[in-house]
Amino acid sequence: MKAIVQDRYGSPDILECRDVPTPVPGPGEVLVKVMAASLNARDWHALRGDPYLSRLTFGLRRPKAPILGTDFAGVVVSGEGFEPGDEVYGEHDGAFAEYVAAPAKVVGPKPANLTFEQAAAMPLAANTALQGLKDLDKGRSVLINGASGGVGTFAVQLAKARGARVTAVCSTRNAEMVAGLGADRVVDYRKQDFATTGERHDLVFDLVGNRSLGDLRKVLAPGGTLLISGGGVYEGGSLFGPIGLVLRSQLVRPLIKDKIQLLGAKPSRANFTALRELAEGGDVTSVIDRTYPLEEAADAMRYLEGEHARAKVVLTVNP
Ligand SMILES: NC(=O)c1ccc[n+]([C@@H]2O[C@H](COP(=O)([O-])OP(=O)(O)OC[C@H]3O[C@@H](n4cnc5c(N)ncnc54)[C@H](OP(=O)(O)O)[C@@H]3O)[C@@H](O)[C@H]2O)c1
Repeated sequence: MKAIVQDRYGSPDILECRDVPTPVPGPGEVLVKVMAASLNARDWHALRGDPYLSRLTFGLRRPKAPILGTDFAGVVVSGEGFEPGDEVYGEHDGAFAEYVAAPAKVVGPKPANLTFEQAAAMPLAANTALQGLKDLDKGRSVLINGASGGVGTFAVQLAKARGARVTAVCSTRNAEMVAGLGADRVVDYRKQDFATTGERHDLVFDLVGNRSLGDLRKVLAPGGTLLISGGGVYEGGSLFGPIGLVLRSQLVRPLIKDKIQLLGAKPSRANFTALRELAEGGDVTSVIDRTYPLEEAADAMRYLEGEHARAKVVLTVNP
């Protein structure tokens, strides 16, 4: 099968579209013929091995998972818990390939009303948004910094579906799109600093990581929660990278009254089933910026690296 392979860490230039053996599903796994896959910030970190601390996860000397990608949608070939031909989506290493073998527990039935491309755009980003907003009650106010990104576009829709009031922070060119997803108020960070509006929110969901803890806490209502995604826009090449904000937040946490939570969203069939229901009910859909054929995955990664993709970038695999 064709797959996007990285033998070492580096820029998108090191990626090769190569013939490799089709994976054989082990116990508890399902073999999926991949129809589409999507890119996430995680793939950028996995490709570059950046920040260095992330290599504890991705592999110290070289990538443990030589095939890039985690999000996929496709058709079941064989394996546990599904019938051949079932349309599914899920999250597992090795997604930028014609076939992926994934644990059945991280694969769910695909939303029937979405294309494979739209479904492939969901798993990691929509699940992150779902987990981040799980305690958000009706009538509460949430500020989402990074609302036009992969996670942010799902977060805006899911927060509205929970009956929250949504303030979305993004750049000028994405303001209209984010308002169209249901945001009650859009703050264009190129024109206005959200930390100086004087407004307070019950939940501040930071998906950018470019602001100080002080700025993020300034817009938090008393008793509110600051939710930090652990990633963000940065130059790369450092030991900690965007994890610096996480470390600082942990140091001050015992000293302050505000609640600070770190997000660590894990994939599960239960979550993908919940997202399927939300998609089929019309509460959430995918926003796709660009689509590339599998062979052009390196170009897709170059585009993602610019950190201004509008929501999701998708690969078509078996069109
Ligand atoms: N902890 C977890 O489980 C978890 C899971 C998923 C993701 N994450 C992290 O969450 C972050 C967001 O992920 P994503 O997939 O949504 O990323 P993304 O699609 O790349 O979105 C990044 C966002 O950053 C905004 N942005 C870029 N430069 C900016 C600047 N200078 N000031 C303010 N905003 C800026 C972009 O908006 P404009 O284009 O409008 O500027 C965009 O909305 C990533 O860092 C990722 O590592 C964590």
